[in-house]
Formats: sequence, C-alpha cells, structure tokens
Amino acid sequence: METLFIGQNIFRLKVVDSTNNYAAGLLRQSGSTERKKIFEGTLVIASFQEQGRGQRGNQWQSKDGENLTFSLILFPQFLKPSEQFFLNKIISLGVYDFLGSLHVKKIAIKWPNDIMVKGKKIAGILIENTLRSNEILSSVIGIGININQQNFEKIPNAISLRKIIGKKADLDKCLEKLCGFIESRYLQLKTNRTNIDKDYLNCLYQKNLTKKYKIKGIELVAEISGVTPAGFLILQKMNGEEIFCDFKEVEFL
Ligand code: BTN
Repeated sequence: METLFIGQNIFRLKVVDSTNNYAAGLLRQSGSTERKKIFEGTLVIASFQEQGRGQRGNQWQSKDGENLTFSLILFPQFLKPSEQFFLNKIISLGVYDFLGSLHVKKIAIKWPNDIMVKGKKIAGILIENTLRSNEILSSVIGIGININQQNFEKIPNAISLRKIIGKKADLDKCLEKLCGFIESRYLQLKTNRTNIDKDYLNCLYQKNLTKKYKIKGIELVAEISGVTPAGFLILQKMNGEEIFCDFKEVEFL
C-alpha cells in the first residue's frame, strides 16, 4: 500500500460480528498485560459481518465479499473531545475524494457522515472514540462502502459503485485508493483545519435548499445553513429562526 501509515497493518477476516467490535478488542488487549502494540492506521477488514452496526443502533447490511466493510484505528490525541466532529468531516471527505477520483458525479455528504450519490446512500461511517480527560485516546472508524453489490432488496435507498459506473471494481485497489485519500485528509487536519471546514460545507447534502425535516417529531420546512464546531446541524426556518439539531433529533424527509 502506498501510504505512510493507514493500511500498513491489516487484519483480514472472513467473518466477524463487526469490524468495529474487533478493532475495539485489539485496542483493549493492547492496553492490558498482553500488550501487543497496535499501530496507528491499522485496518480490520472483513468479507462478511454477522452483526454490522450502523448509526442510531441500525444494522449495516452488506453481501459477503461484494463490498468494503472495515475499521480503521487512529490515535488523534491532538484533538480535544470537543473537536471530535473533525473526524467525521475528514473521513467523509476522504470517501468523497475517493469517489470523485473515479469520476462519480453528484456526490454529497449527508450530515453527519453519510455519503450520497444522486440522493442514494453509497457509504456509511460509524466512529467510536475512546476519551480520557481532555483527549481522544483512540478512535475506531468503521466504514461501509457499497462497491460491487447489485441488489439491495431490503434497502431501497442504497446504491453501489458498480451500479453507477456499470462495471465491477477490484476491492483491494479500491481500499488502497481510499486509504490514500483518508490519509491525506487526516494529515490536512493536522496542518490546516480551516480548509477542512470549508470543504465539508461545500459538499453538504441539501445545503441552502428549502426542504422538509422532522425535528423532535415535528415537520417543518427549512434550509441547512451550516454545522457547528461540535457537529450540530444548523437549520434555518423560513422566518429566519435558526435551530441547532443533535443527530438523534432530526430526520430528512
Ligand atoms: C451508518 O451509515 O449507519 C454507518 C454504517 C457503518 C458500517 C461500517 S461497516 C464496517 C464497520 N463495522 C460495523 O459494524 N459498522 C461499520
């Protein structure tokens, strides 16, 4: 792999419950007496997950061997817990850049970190951080990206790379490319955060468009105007009033 550290160590599994669980287990062990050092950038990748997890307690379903389902271990100790949303931003941007490099059009990041193509979901991200006092000790970044799957029977709003470009892609090559883009964004985060904010906002799904949302059970028409540093979505109602929404309280209609 032509990266500095992301993907230089890979645990390849045929079947696992969830690569995020497996990665968290590796981190736990490395902290115990067994002390097997886990390097930053380590990946856990599985052909099939029996209990792939999504955000909000949802499942992540992916056919055996057809897509990329993996977790990346990072130690972003340079970020304060209050800055953890930067991880959502850089990982989403890395996936966005990867798809862009394959000439995929109409890509957008649906807040907080779903990757959409033509309004359908191609990738999901589940970030689980371990915090200690005022730092992020470790981060397990789970990424599911639909590459070659053609039928999504029970997931009507899903799309894959194959459905977009019309041909099968090599999973290992995709992984390698994706790791390169994520690494660049991670390094960019260390040197120039302002551009990360700008790029994330530029890619945001439905930004500045008048759309329907459901907030705490109430339907309303509003525009996405931005995201706060802590990661709250800012919706502007038609009367100009701004609402700050937490992840669990907003639904895109
Ligand atoms: C979402 O869109 O809700 C997030 C989906 C995240 C799925 C990935 S697949 C690899 C990793 N392991 C998991 O159990 N989940 C993440």
